Amino acid sequence: MSSPAAGRALRYGASEEEKARYHGLARRHGTPLLVVSRERLRVQYRDLQKRLPDVSLYYAIKAFPHPAVIETLAALGCHFDVASEGEIELLQALRISGRKTIHTHPVKKSQQIKAALRGGSTTFVVDNLEELGKLTPWRHRVGILIRLSFPSETAAVDLSRKFGCPPEEAPEIAERAQRAGFQVRGLSFHVGSQSLSPQAHVDAIEQCRRLLERINERLPHPLGTLDIGGGFPVDYELRGFDYDAYFQPIRRALERLPRDLHLIAEPGRYLVAPAVISISSVIGKSRRGGLRWYYLDDGIYGSYSGQLFDHARYPLQFPDGEGPRSPSVLAGPTCDSIDVIAENLDLPELNEGDLVIGRMMGAYTAATSTRFNSLNAAKIVVEEEDFDVG
Ligand SMILES: Cc1ncc(COP(=O)(O)O)c(C=O)c1O
Repeated sequence: MSSPAAGRALRYGASEEEKARYHGLARRHGTPLLVVSRERLRVQYRDLQKRLPDVSLYYAIKAFPHPAVIETLAALGCHFDVASEGEIELLQALRISGRKTIHTHPVKKSQQIKAALRGGSTTFVVDNLEELGKLTPWRHRVGILIRLSFPSETAAVDLSRKFGCPPEEAPEIAERAQRAGFQVRGLSFHVGSQSLSPQAHVDAIEQCRRLLERINERLPHPLGTLDIGGGFPVDYELRGFDYDAYFQPIRRALERLPRDLHLIAEPGRYLVAPAVISISSVIGKSRRGGLRWYYLDDGIYGSYSGQLFDHARYPLQFPDGEGPRSPSVLAGPTCDSIDVIAENLDLPELNEGDLVIGRMMGAYTAATSTRFNSLNAAKIVVEEEDFDVG
């Protein structure tokens, strides 16, 4: 069995420049912190555009719902995937038009539908006839994407268990929707988040190609959009993931689709994970059962919540310590015993006030952190300069 530390990239030390930056940020803002690099966001967005050149990108706001992230991506021409009223309000506060959004939550309260329509959203995802029924009062104003279920074993987070209809149900939903007067724009899917094999996308795209052919032969108004969801992975193990090899088969599969099909994607993690680091401080230490325990001011109930909800293991960076390393445990600040970030770490001795850096911490971190023990969430600060957060 692998240890909890297995698969987790550990880095000791940091360049003098990095150290000065971390300490400067901690002095200025206190800890715990999440530090956003706008420049790294731009790099990720341009990189994904290059890898999926004919695909319009809709950032999935849920991954890291912060105005600086939205603003930075909007300035590059990115569109947005919204799934709640709160996310729509975030865009409205930044004066971003609802026309640049798709509403991707397959199950919505009528109140949410109205809020989305008021905000200018006109494309909604459904995966069953009940949901279609809820949209009927606005059928002449909205476009529909039918979400399909493609369970995948190679994704860290399965998003087809709860949502998406079996592909064979899509023709009936499309037909009923057109008959009711909806504009059926196309199909959508999500192969699961942190999807490590490109084959999941390739298979789903291929099934959608065949399904679109079948549907478009039968229906008076052809479906013209395919939404390939999110799921594109990031390199939490810092092992030099081969992104060229990953995206090439997906690009090939997209090239086999009809030329005039409008392609969209809803990436979250890929854009934002590498653009954020966490800075937390050692607030206490003890020896328990022959192990060194270090307690940080951020943990599983805070920015590291993704370790529970998102099954992620973030690469960690520690101060260079003098002296021998020994088996250590890294715990969070709450009173709960599950609040342990990592065990079986081989660490140099740490002291109160030492900084621990979590890298790749933009996706599903702050978004899912709680206020347990009435502790404050990590403060989010935005750095304009380019720095290596990956
Ligand atoms: C409907 C939908 N679209 C997009 C995303 C973003 O996925 P990812 O962060 O894997 O790119 C999610 C994640 O939960 C989602 O549920």
